[in-house]
Amino acid sequence: MENRPSNVPVTINVNGNALSAEVEPRTLLALFLRDDLHLTGTHIGCDTSNCGACTVLLDGDAVKSCTVLAVQADGRDITTIEGVAGDDGSFSAVQEGFRQEHGLQCGYCTPGMIMAATALLADNPNPSEHDIRHNLEGNLCRCTGYQMIVNSVRWAAENPDGVSVSVGGQGAHS
Ligand code: FES
Ligand code: FES
Repeated sequence: MENRPSNVPVTINVNGNALSAEVEPRTLLALFLRDDLHLTGTHIGCDTSNCGACTVLLDGDAVKSCTVLAVQADGRDITTIEGVAGDDGSFSAVQEGFRQEHGLQCGYCTPGMIMAATALLADNPNPSEHDIRHNLEGNLCRCTGYQMIVNSVRWAAENPDGVSVSVGGQGAHS
C-alpha cells in the first residue's frame, strides 16, 4: 500500500484574502490555485516551466506557478489574474493596454503575460521595447507574433492610470 505523506496546513494570502487549507506536500501552486481555489484564470500550458501561462505574482515577483509548490507559498502573498482588476471591476493599466492594443487572440497566454508585465512595470515603469521583450522571454504566445503584446505593455507604461473600462460596462476611470 502506498505510503503517502500527510497533508500540510498552509495559509496563503491570495488576492488579499488569507486562505487556509491542507495540501499534499507535492501539490503544485498552479494546481492548488486552479483545483482547490477554483481560480482558473491561471492557465497551465506545459507543466514544464516553458510557456509562462501559469505566471502569478509571489510577494510581487513573477513566478511560474507550475514550478512552485503550494507549501512554498505558505505565509506569502500571491496575486493571480483574478486579483489584478480594481475592486470596482475596472481594468488595470496592463489589462487595458491589452484591450487597446489588441494584445491577445485566443487568450490562452494572456493571464501569464499580464502578470509578467505587471511585475515588470512595478520594477521598471518606463521599459524600453528591449526591456519588455527581455522580460517576457519566458512567456510564449502562439497567436500574436508578440509585437502587439509589446505594444500593449508600452501602452500601459504610457498610461499608468489606464482608462476606464469596467467589466460589464464603460465609464471614466480616475
Ligand atoms: S504551465 Fe507553467 S510554464 Fe507552462
Ligand atoms: S493569444 Fe493565443 S497563445 Fe497568446
